Amino acid sequence: MAAMDLKGRDFVRLSDFTAEEIDSILTLAFDMKREQRQWSLKGKTIILLFFNSSLRTRTSMEIGVAQLDANAVVLNVGQDAWNLEWREGVVMDGDSPEHIKDAAKVLSRYGDIIAVRSFPKLKDYAEDRADPVMSSFVKYATAPIINLESGVEHPCQGLADLMTLREVFSHNTRRKKVVLTWAPHVKPLPLAVPHSFALATALGGCDLTIACPQEFDLEPEVVKHAQETAAKNGGSVKIERDQAKAFKGAEVIYAKSWCSRQFYGRPAEEIAFRKTLPSWMVTEEKMATTSRAKFMHCLPIRRNVVATDAVLDDEDCVVYQQAENRLHAQKALLYKMLGS
Ligand code: CP
Repeated sequence: MAAMDLKGRDFVRLSDFTAEEIDSILTLAFDMKREQRQWSLKGKTIILLFFNSSLRTRTSMEIGVAQLDANAVVLNVGQDAWNLEWREGVVMDGDSPEHIKDAAKVLSRYGDIIAVRSFPKLKDYAEDRADPVMSSFVKYATAPIINLESGVEHPCQGLADLMTLREVFSHNTRRKKVVLTWAPHVKPLPLAVPHSFALATALGGCDLTIACPQEFDLEPEVVKHAQETAAKNGGSVKIERDQAKAFKGAEVIYAKSWCSRQFYGRPAEEIAFRKTLPSWMVTEEKMATTSRAKFMHCLPIRRNVVATDAVLDDEDCVVYQQAENRLHAQKALLYKMLGS
């Protein structure tokens, strides 16, 4: 298999891909964003399976598939499709009438790609870290799998984020000072987006600072992988506890709230602890200490909790550009996986 050939491969974690492979997807994404030319996947079918709500992922995938002249079949698990079991060897006398082992094999006979949006239960870290729903689909499907966000990664978001960084930095992201800052939120959220952003900046050779309280450190294996990948691509990844220090001279601020591994499975305790940290919200005053940084967030965002209206409504906020790039990046990914 040629290095850039994505056919037959799953797209589940950015950590499975080289900078050159990601570059080949984004090069096509930029062509697709710029040109009106028709890239056709006529006759192909993409099955989109959602275990939880989505605005951007669902619409950008469905519209992207339509623009490629392919067919999308969208299933909301538990509504249009049966609840799915992933545990091996269990007596299935509970709420889930179908096993992923069977569903994945059946859907593989209908679709050319199965794209899955799962959501971690946020109860047991070891279980969520193993990404059981996504791993089951990878294990049992014979069609390639795309991860539309799981407990561990959101690689399509990571692709769009790196595409946006390239636009912000005129295609040279190497050594750019990018800050991923933890931000307040009313409840614990998955680690997928910050993990994929750290890996995306590493693939782009950025100098990434992850600013967070120590209770919110990301998965150490992901940080280690990001550090090794960044080093290969001329960049670096470091952790900073002092948000003000991290912001000084930053060229991009990416805000995101994520859950604490320390409080995992104890949401009431984590929520109480979060209430002591409202000062981590991104404000206009903090943005003024940066090197006129662009503001990024994957959306959805709780205004005046994660970041103020003034930050979000400022001309240096690129969140809608980021959201648009989901469409171009995913179309390019689909074409790389299925196109001729
Ligand atoms: N950023 C993102 O994945 O948005 P949705 O949850 O709306 O799909």
